[in-house]
Amino acid sequence: MSWEIDEDISRAGTIDPRIHTDAALHQRCVDRALLPSWQLVPVGEPAQAITPFTLLEGSLDEPLLLTRDGEAERVLSNVCTHRGALLADAPSDRAGLRCPYHGRRFDLAGAMTGCPGFEDAADFPRPEDDLAAPAFERVGPLRFVSLAPRLDFDAWAAPLRESLAEFEGEALRFDPAGSHGYELDASWALYCENYLEGFHVPFVHPGLNAGLDFSRYRTELLPHGARQLGFASGEEPRLAQATEDGLVADYLWLYPNLMVNVYAWGISVNLVEPRGVGRARIRYLRWVARPEHLGVGAGGDLGQVEREDQEIVRSVQRGMASRLYPGGRFSPRHETGAHHFQRLLAADLGAPESL
Ligand code: FES
Ligand SMILES: [Fe+2]
Repeated sequence: MSWEIDEDISRAGTIDPRIHTDAALHQRCVDRALLPSWQLVPVGEPAQAITPFTLLEGSLDEPLLLTRDGEAERVLSNVCTHRGALLADAPSDRAGLRCPYHGRRFDLAGAMTGCPGFEDAADFPRPEDDLAAPAFERVGPLRFVSLAPRLDFDAWAAPLRESLAEFEGEALRFDPAGSHGYELDASWALYCENYLEGFHVPFVHPGLNAGLDFSRYRTELLPHGARQLGFASGEEPRLAQATEDGLVADYLWLYPNLMVNVYAWGISVNLVEPRGVGRARIRYLRWVARPEHLGVGAGGDLGQVEREDQEIVRSVQRGMASRLYPGGRFSPRHETGAHHFQRLLAADLGAPESL
């Protein structure tokens, strides 16, 4: 067992299972893999000018605000630059922010516009008295933020732009009724690994499998992600932009914890939020472009597929804590995606000097 995963999948062993069960290793994943990553802003479509949210609640726990001022959208710190009170606790349509603690004011761009009691302060205000604004980007309806970006956003997001080209010229509308979240007694990384191999589909998802031609199921590795392609065995709706006949599902994963599934009806986004050792929350957010295709084929009964995945991943979490599990190997034919994930994660974790 090791954090160094052999580049050659035919020889590689799986990552040290303790990353799923050990508090210090879990924290190392948070600090080294999640903190420097690009993260989805978990707001479907902001209805108001100010929308507070917590970035990765349960791990990064960063209080942020999404603000909208005409066409301009920004992500700002939700922490007052005076003594650190949170500025907003609910969405609102106010024209600015006023700190509930001592009345400091900010506009929707984060500039401090009032600071009662500071008339005699020297060397004030400084630039850092405005609200901090982490890196913020947008692709189609999806918004992203990073507190300490290590990867160039366009390089990371290039495969997502390709996936969303399916809906070029069409409107993807957020569907709150089709969006929800689940708490899961399993590590975020196990959920990602499970997503990254179609190997389990015939065993775990009999319903889904019946509509897919498993012999054509394919995984393509990307520098910072992986794409899995699902082909129909029947007549269900195809992806319009597909260059290959029968393509019905484009399952894109972007490192470390984002999944964007493209179906003929629209996109289902899964955000995997670490919530502590062996605990995660999966947010399912849905945007619909072609409602007439909802409910059929590979993108049909996603609730059932989600339940089947959660059940098997929970069982793997219990296995990870076994004193008798020796660590495993990868199917060279079916598990290139899971192998790739473990290699990227192992590289972020660095040498296990203290183990
Ligand atoms: S903490 Fe905001 S004004 Fe004091
Ligand atoms: Fe699955």
